[in-house]
Amino acid sequence: MTDPVNLERHGDIAVLRIANPPVNAISPGVVAGMVAALDAFEADRSYAALLVHCEGRTFVAGGDISSFDAADFTATVYNGTLMRLESQDRPVVAALHGTVLGGGLELALACHYRVALPSTQVGLPEVKLGLLPGSLGTQRLPRVAGIELALDMISTGRSIKAAAAQRAGIVDEVKEGAPLDIGLAFAQALVARGAGARRISEIKVSQVGLPADYFERALDEAKRKKAFYPSARNIVLAVQASTLPFVEGEAVEARLFEELRTSPESKAQRHLFFAERQAGKIPGLPKDVQLRSVASVGIVGAGTMGGGIAMNFANAGIPTVLVETTQAALDRGLGIVRANYEASAAKGRLTSEQVAQRMALLRGTLDYEALTSCDLVIEAVFENMDLKKQVCARLGAVCKPGAIIATNTSTLDVDVLADATGRPADVVGMHFFSPANVMRLLEVVRGAKTAPEVLATVMQLARKIGKVAVVSGVCYGFIGNRMAEVYMREAEFLMMEGATPAEIDGAVEALGMAMGPCRMLDMAGIDVGAKTVIEYGKAGGLPPDDSYRAMVRTMFELGRFGQKTGAGYYRYDGRKPLGDLETARLAKELAIAHGIAQRIDISQQEIVERLLYPLINEGAKILEEGIAYRPSDIDIVWTAGYGFPDHKGGPMFMADAIGLPVIAERLKHYGQVRGNAFGYWTVSPLLADLAKRGERISDWHPA
Ligand code: NAI
Repeated sequence: MTDPVNLERHGDIAVLRIANPPVNAISPGVVAGMVAALDAFEADRSYAALLVHCEGRTFVAGGDISSFDAADFTATVYNGTLMRLESQDRPVVAALHGTVLGGGLELALACHYRVALPSTQVGLPEVKLGLLPGSLGTQRLPRVAGIELALDMISTGRSIKAAAAQRAGIVDEVKEGAPLDIGLAFAQALVARGAGARRISEIKVSQVGLPADYFERALDEAKRKKAFYPSARNIVLAVQASTLPFVEGEAVEARLFEELRTSPESKAQRHLFFAERQAGKIPGLPKDVQLRSVASVGIVGAGTMGGGIAMNFANAGIPTVLVETTQAALDRGLGIVRANYEASAAKGRLTSEQVAQRMALLRGTLDYEALTSCDLVIEAVFENMDLKKQVCARLGAVCKPGAIIATNTSTLDVDVLADATGRPADVVGMHFFSPANVMRLLEVVRGAKTAPEVLATVMQLARKIGKVAVVSGVCYGFIGNRMAEVYMREAEFLMMEGATPAEIDGAVEALGMAMGPCRMLDMAGIDVGAKTVIEYGKAGGLPPDDSYRAMVRTMFELGRFGQKTGAGYYRYDGRKPLGDLETARLAKELAIAHGIAQRIDISQQEIVERLLYPLINEGAKILEEGIAYRPSDIDIVWTAGYGFPDHKGGPMFMADAIGLPVIAERLKHYGQVRGNAFGYWTVSPLLADLAKRGERISDWHPA
């Protein structure tokens, strides 16, 4: 292997060349190489300037995130190396291209001058991992870009393009060309005009134009809007410290960074970062599997889901045809898509040309023959087994050989639907979440006969349309909705026992859940939820318990469908949920009918335990049964699809933080006080076993 860092002579310019593919990430080897290169540069006074240049597709695009977990982690060596780079008395230039992110931008800011290709993007995305830039990014960026832009970039983690970076003073020159050439030309021009060193650390941060209470307000806002994220608060404090002398600010940044690095929130967010990368790996799939090409898509059903799914493909530039049963349904579906795009345009997120381009990629028809040329067809018709079987049979006949047939069913047996097509190897579940154009999660359901290349193609396509895909085996509700079912079950039992929807939702929202279970189902539709329960009952899946989901079934009968009818678990004023005495009356009536004792002492802790511990227990069962490949896949499903807080790392990661023995013990406790006639509280053998052995479920993998 060649050295990741070299010092090369180009006339009187020394080029410190980093070559650490794929993204030139900072690693101990890169840092050691930089130190050696600086030794050589310092020892040779015949050089007039130093140019930092990276090989390949990008300048340094970040650091090695796994190193943050090491017990002996320290940023001191890298930071010291950057300090030494900056302290050179001859000019130091960085030639930027690609994505100059995190430790990469911090390296660039330690150089005296920066020149960039127009396509370059720069940013400090550490906040996305619950961290702050810990190699003086919080100290150097405000000194060149000003406090407001620096705080904005560091707090949001957003990157900016070269032109904007130049306007902000982050980049000195933007030029087309090869990075090495533009860097050398810039360095030679500096030498020719006798320019010297220019150190950002020696600049005094300007506070001109900022209100006296600027940081106080920013801190208040961070605490209010990002209460669950200590990174938000620490970032404000670190940027504020850039107004101090550099060495003092450096110490503040180091302390605040270390606080975050060891915080449970950042550990959870880092866990999800790796979980997302893991989710794409499918055990047992041959490495050389030949992907099928997907250049055109068909969708059957232009309802809530069909329209949203179509937008994903239009956004990715893939022509898509929608098939409906009536012109009215088609017009309505495409009308909603257009309205969605126009709303984005009104917010400035799309130009009118982009709206026109995307709409031009979408075509509606009543004729199934239009599907014959499609590489992938997704059915999104009503959730009804007989109808879906008919549609699948038709697709099996109409679709060309080699086309992939997918179903968006949220609960039905994908293997039954696959058989209905007559070509089950071509069939896979693609379970999108509502709104399908917004939610990042895609559950990819692998049927018993799904061909490896079909699975691999869909996983790759998911990435192309910006989704995070998780593979699930076939079972009722797959990973997400199966776990949501036990969560909803307990929410309803708690309601019948006397807790209000607001108390139930409030308890989990206080942990950071985007929305509690009652608000969630009111939004998705009580009718949708009830029909699923009823269908599942017909298929023999429900426990022989009349009180099971009695609330949702009764509300469905009463026409309380949630937000869309103005009442469900809550009553609605527009979209605002209000407490409803009718719900309390209904809950009491059902409690009496089913012999459930009502009480007034239901604590927030009990609500949290009864909602989350059965959900975690169900997750363990899903692992035991091989429905999910790994615990972290479950964490992705819940954080990307159900609003589970990322700062808790997902339900399985959270389970380890709580402690499996505690969870097992509380499940047993509720089994005793609530009764366990239907097995609701039976601890999964996997969870029980891990708890006994003192092991973490996050570390578990199938034998
Ligand atoms: P929807 O009722 O909004 O839309 C279904 C559409 O299918 C209607 O426009 C209907 O005219 C059309 N349709 C019915 N039979 C057809 C046929 N033979 N050929 C062509 N079009 C036909 O339903 P929604 O909510 O979009 O659900 C569709 C599927 O997506 C269901 O399987 C559902 O379980 C699943 N799903 C729904 C989610 C949701 O939150 N609504 C979330 C995830 C999956």
